Amino acid sequence: MDGREIIRHCRLLAEQTEEPGHITRTYLSPPMHAVHRMVRGCMEAAGMATRIDAVGNLRGVYGRGPRLMIGSHLDTVPHSGAFDGILGVMIAIALVDRQPPCAVEVAAFAEEEGARFGVPFIGSRALVGSPVMDERVLAAIREFGLDPAGIPEALLDPEVKAYLEFHIEQGPVLENLGLPLGVVEAIAGQSRWEIRFEGKANHAGTTPMDVRRDALACAAEWIGMVEHVARTTSGLVATVGTIEALPGAGNVIPGTAIASLDVRHASDEVRERALNLLLNGAEHIAHGRGLTVTGEARLDQPAVALYFETVEQAVQSAGFPVHRMVSGAGHDAMILARKIPASMLFLRSPGGISHHPDESVAAEDVDAALAVGADLLRAWSPA
Ligand code: HGY
Ligand code: MN
Ligand code: MN
Repeated sequence: MDGREIIRHCRLLAEQTEEPGHITRTYLSPPMHAVHRMVRGCMEAAGMATRIDAVGNLRGVYGRGPRLMIGSHLDTVPHSGAFDGILGVMIAIALVDRQPPCAVEVAAFAEEEGARFGVPFIGSRALVGSPVMDERVLAAIREFGLDPAGIPEALLDPEVKAYLEFHIEQGPVLENLGLPLGVVEAIAGQSRWEIRFEGKANHAGTTPMDVRRDALACAAEWIGMVEHVARTTSGLVATVGTIEALPGAGNVIPGTAIASLDVRHASDEVRERALNLLLNGAEHIAHGRGLTVTGEARLDQPAVALYFETVEQAVQSAGFPVHRMVSGAGHDAMILARKIPASMLFLRSPGGISHHPDESVAAEDVDAALAVGADLLRAWSPA
């Protein structure tokens, strides 16, 4: 498969969706059965022995003995693009299809985004011994036809000596520099929380403004603070991506408001300081309005330094300019890095857009990534 064919496969797989007209494929949703079938077929055509592990990761092994794992994720955010995650899986399969001189395991992770249950990295966490054992996840595993009792068998095989991930950059850096590829030297840390404001529901028409305990108005004041803190802290990004108002009727003052919080920075110290500021701010705003607020951590992922030397050498030997960069997006590489040296190669994102239907990738940039991958596999040794 060349760049053009890989893009065609990604667009074909994008048709496997929970929402006709959009690309939405969350953890172990019904379309994931078809995706498993289609991707497994490509793996086996490339000569891999395949299996689906107990959390729904699709894994293919080529060759024997110590091996390099190349992977990414099969799931998407709601209303996604066609390349986030799946492109890395298809590039891995295309590299194996070229019969490299070393053994390879391709890992197609069942879930990285956290879209279905608010908890990300369900797929890759099972490989490093920190599986997500949330009851909702175990029920989804059973409903999909898998058995949670098999989760221990999902662990990384000791023969896997390193991890490599190809992924779209999902931002504007490479396009602004006019470069096809980026060598990822670190991934920013991220904190994901659920914040719950509790006030008092009441009649929208009969309740005077000065006696209200409106949970959504309280959350709105706090969301303004989230944006202000991020705008005034260098290198920090903070996002409230979801908000739910209960009971959810236009003529009822919301008694409850549930908001997500996503805070990221390359420095863990800056991220943790900002997170504490935002959590304390929620308390202060809520108490000033006579409400209560609680918070629950969904992810506390430190920044991760990646092993970039091998990738950098392969980019050079394939004849492309080297540009080292930090990833603001989280990736499965940050989970695998807990156990084995992990590397990433970014492909340019036209328009710098991702997590959006306009997300794209250029065939010639996929060909560039394939050339780098082939060079890397030629030179790779498990030592
Ligand atoms: O949200 C992220 O960082 C990635 O797209 N999962
Ligand atoms: Mn993503
Ligand atoms: Mn991704």
